[in-house]
Amino acid sequence: MPTTVELFGGTMMSPVPNPYPVYKRLRDEWPVALVDGIFGQHYLVTRYEDALAVLRDAERFSSRANARGIGLVFGRTILEMDGIEHIRHRRLITPALTPRALTSGDLPAAIRATAHDLVDRFVDRGHAELVEEFTFLFPIRVFTKQFLQLPEDDAKQFHFWALDLISIADDPPRAFAAAQAIVEYLKPVLARRRENPGEDLISLLATARVEGEQLTDDEILSFCRLLVPAGAETTYRLLGSALFALLTHPEVLNAVRADGRLLDRVVEETLRWESPVQYVTRETTVDTEVGGTKIARNMLVSVALGSANRDERRYPEPDRFDIHRDFEGHVAFGFGRHYCAGSHLGRLEARIALEVLLERLPDLVRDPSFEDQIVGLAFRSPNALHVRYRTTKMV
Ligand code: HEM
Repeated sequence: MPTTVELFGGTMMSPVPNPYPVYKRLRDEWPVALVDGIFGQHYLVTRYEDALAVLRDAERFSSRANARGIGLVFGRTILEMDGIEHIRHRRLITPALTPRALTSGDLPAAIRATAHDLVDRFVDRGHAELVEEFTFLFPIRVFTKQFLQLPEDDAKQFHFWALDLISIADDPPRAFAAAQAIVEYLKPVLARRRENPGEDLISLLATARVEGEQLTDDEILSFCRLLVPAGAETTYRLLGSALFALLTHPEVLNAVRADGRLLDRVVEETLRWESPVQYVTRETTVDTEVGGTKIARNMLVSVALGSANRDERRYPEPDRFDIHRDFEGHVAFGFGRHYCAGSHLGRLEARIALEVLLERLPDLVRDPSFEDQIVGLAFRSPNALHVRYRTTKMV
């Protein structure tokens, strides 16, 4: 039985440049592979149809699997809940995240203003490193400020905690320290919001009732601890990969400059082509099978979303970035009951950020003296984005 290291030459958080040839071999030769991972043996599902079969069947493939991994630092959250408990908790936040709720108020303008603020800092320089100076900072600022109503200066710290949290498989002590730090930070905030609720997500959770009962402090803190990486870590990666795609496909960049409506297609094809979240995991509740492979009860089953999205059985020439293809049905946001609760927000933020960057940075090109690339195994995005552009400053 191979290990993840043998398959990809790294751990879950290592900067693996290109896992896709391995996925292709697995899809062709061993589509439901038994591998040794950090949390023990698990099955790795790499074909699109098999991915859907697992994710659509929450009875046989339970999300309680997440309690063994990411749940160790997030605490008990909707990610690991099943059945009615999951529905009740999910209902608390989804109304705040519908397309209507997101676009009917002044949120789009606030998101745009955040993007402009960040660009102001480097627009006159003629060159920038957009991961460090923009993509890393932007979604966490939007989330902590607009959704949690925390001071802007704390946003960067939150992103480092979020990164530490999701490194649980590689560095558990660091992940636990971050989990504790977030709790210490948020406890007094929660106490104040219970006393004096506002319009933010923490107040919403503090005043919500599930089955007539208020959520406990622990439940709310766990929810927030999930939302920080879920809301920022993922979108930052999507945005970085979308920029990378534009910079490495100048014909697409030109087409988008001529017709801004194509940006929606850029975002969607990026989600398929370089899915920011590469795995979701389930646990079998009964002896079962996937794609003809028998799987015993209580086994972990990891669905490789990035591989499913590049399955040639579903997407012809899957490695090609093509904004005119039929990308419908990609599983970058998962599928089924746990389908990403923040998909509309992620798309909206990415789209607005791209609009602002293209508007403010004329003649944007990659700086060829750097070899920036998209890397990662569990999560993927560019390691850096060195760019040059024309400055419009009068001298
Ligand atoms: C744009 C990039 C994003 C990507 C690629 C992404 C990806 C995913 C995926 C794959 C899942 C499914 C997990 C599973 O099935 O076990 C998920 C769930 C979730 N996402 Fe996102 N996400 C993104 C943005 C966001 C944002 C902006 C939020 C903000 C609120 C968010 C909140 C959540 C929540 C709360 C869940 C859990 C849903 C449930 O268990 O019912 N995500 N996300």
